[in-house]
Amino acid sequence: CGIVGYIGNEVSSPILLDALRRLEYRGYDSAGIAVISKEKNLQVRKIKGRLSNLELLVEQNPVEGSCGIGHTRWATHGEPSDLNSHPHTDVSQSIAVVHNGIIENHGQLRTWLEKHQVSFASQTDSEVIAHLIDFHYNGDLLLAVRESVARLEGSYAIAVVCKDQPDILVVARKDSPLVIGRAEGATLIASDVPPLLSHTREVQYLNDLEVAVLSKDSVHIYNLEGEELSRPCETIDWDMEAAEKCGYEHFMLKEICEQPKALGDTLRPKLDKQGKLVFPPDIESLIKGASHLLITGCGTAYHAAMVASYVIEQVASIPVEVVIASELRYKHHIRKEGEVCILISQSGETADTIAALRMLKNLGIPTFAITNVVGCTLSREADKVMYTNAGPEIAVASTKAFTTQLLSLFALATLLAKAEQLVLLEALQQLPSQAQRLLDRQEDIQRFAANQFNKTKVFFMGRLVDYAISLESALKLKEISYTHSEAFAAGELKHGPIALVDTSTLVVALCTQPSLFAKMDSNIKEVKARGATALVITFEQVHTFDETADMIFRIPQTHPLFSPILTVMVSQLYAYYCSVQKGNDPDKPRNLAKSVTVE
Ligand code: G6P
Repeated sequence: CGIVGYIGNEVSSPILLDALRRLEYRGYDSAGIAVISKEKNLQVRKIKGRLSNLELLVEQNPVEGSCGIGHTRWATHGEPSDLNSHPHTDVSQSIAVVHNGIIENHGQLRTWLEKHQVSFASQTDSEVIAHLIDFHYNGDLLLAVRESVARLEGSYAIAVVCKDQPDILVVARKDSPLVIGRAEGATLIASDVPPLLSHTREVQYLNDLEVAVLSKDSVHIYNLEGEELSRPCETIDWDMEAAEKCGYEHFMLKEICEQPKALGDTLRPKLDKQGKLVFPPDIESLIKGASHLLITGCGTAYHAAMVASYVIEQVASIPVEVVIASELRYKHHIRKEGEVCILISQSGETADTIAALRMLKNLGIPTFAITNVVGCTLSREADKVMYTNAGPEIAVASTKAFTTQLLSLFALATLLAKAEQLVLLEALQQLPSQAQRLLDRQEDIQRFAANQFNKTKVFFMGRLVDYAISLESALKLKEISYTHSEAFAAGELKHGPIALVDTSTLVVALCTQPSLFAKMDSNIKEVKARGATALVITFEQVHTFDETADMIFRIPQTHPLFSPILTVMVSQLYAYYCSVQKGNDPDKPRNLAKSVTVE
């Protein structure tokens, strides 16, 4: 979910709606706003479905006032419906709350409130917050919020307005993101930076278990005991343009096409004037001192971890264990001597990844985060952090964040390499321009997608890093084109999956490991013999598959271990064009959200 808030001199509703538009990637099952007028009227407009439904509702039924809050929802408790949409209010409709997170003890609180004659309007966990604040309210909204959040278990970022105090907005957070923007004559809040950028670049981050009271020209931050805390402003150094579509039809295509630049921006700070790798000394000594690496993340970030394990084990001979963060957090993890954990997350806010981080810290394992968002929770809690410089990624399906994660991990592998370091370094430096060469031929992929998008089954197969990229390719395709796609380690096909292959199947074979070309060629022949159509992705100079494949897409020649950055770009484009051919919105796939800050 995403939350926003505004208090200032302007009419708030257009500002809130614009801010919600920039947060839609966080969820879009329903949306709502609550605004307080000068006459102390609390006006709530909320509706199931996309933000355009809310815009229409507000147009037909306008709200007045320059203090308000807004929400775009990704349903966790209670189906998407008008009643379950935020903002939620207390019984007397005096207080309105928007919430991102999950209140784990909402059942007990609900029972307790019902005993105090409170009746509930929705099935959400969030509604308890509005009633609790009302219960504690005695003319001081800040105090009521402080006392209420002290009773909450779980995660929350909340923004609260009260019709009796139209000149303030109160916010609080624990384990869900919240940023405060300081503009001229206005203060804003949001779950992420992009909604703030058209107003200001000066931001303050709220930490866990803090509450803040905002007016149009002041911000006061307190801990739950009521002590005021000082918090410097930070300046955001990327701009609106970076968060806009810039003429591309979709954010996803823009972000795919930005990869050469994003890769260059990520690599450059890691090279000195002579082109040698330089890492901050503390990170270098942490990584070089590790005798075991544990790498974790969720979704696409987990696939980056998988690729890294093959590469690091091969070039550095360090054992690498890869575990999905949602599993790791509950697993009985056995700490190894000299173990260091790398946590990968684009947003740095994924609940499972943060929970895994805290579990590892409790075990005393040093933690190192690779993330794209400066100031995110992961960056603040991990022992060390390294940023990918992908710029804001808006489309739900991750593209440039993934390839910049890979580049960062490849740079680390090169730093640790026992041999071939110069060859690897040279290969790394060529990747940004090779990514551009690949993009220059994207029409070939567009044409192929136009012919194949109706395939009901698409299987990706490969070995080693090609298997990891097969998993990521199948994920991309199912996320945005809703095509049933799966990935198989090519050698496993004969142990079951080949039973599914028939004339309706497209098999995409990733073939970038020269020592395994002959094996892959046999696997392709096996699926073709069962009627499948075969697309091969391989290097420019390779001709092993010329007779076998129905179609070949050739990527620039790089070191075979670094091929994932290029092979995945082919899959990203294929998934994107299939999604568009099917009439889907690739930026906002059904049932998914960009940043999953709940379990
Ligand atoms: C969500 C997104 C995925 C992403 C995953 C992990 O599921 O839809 O695209 O890979 O979260 O996100 P993170 O921000 O931790 O990389």
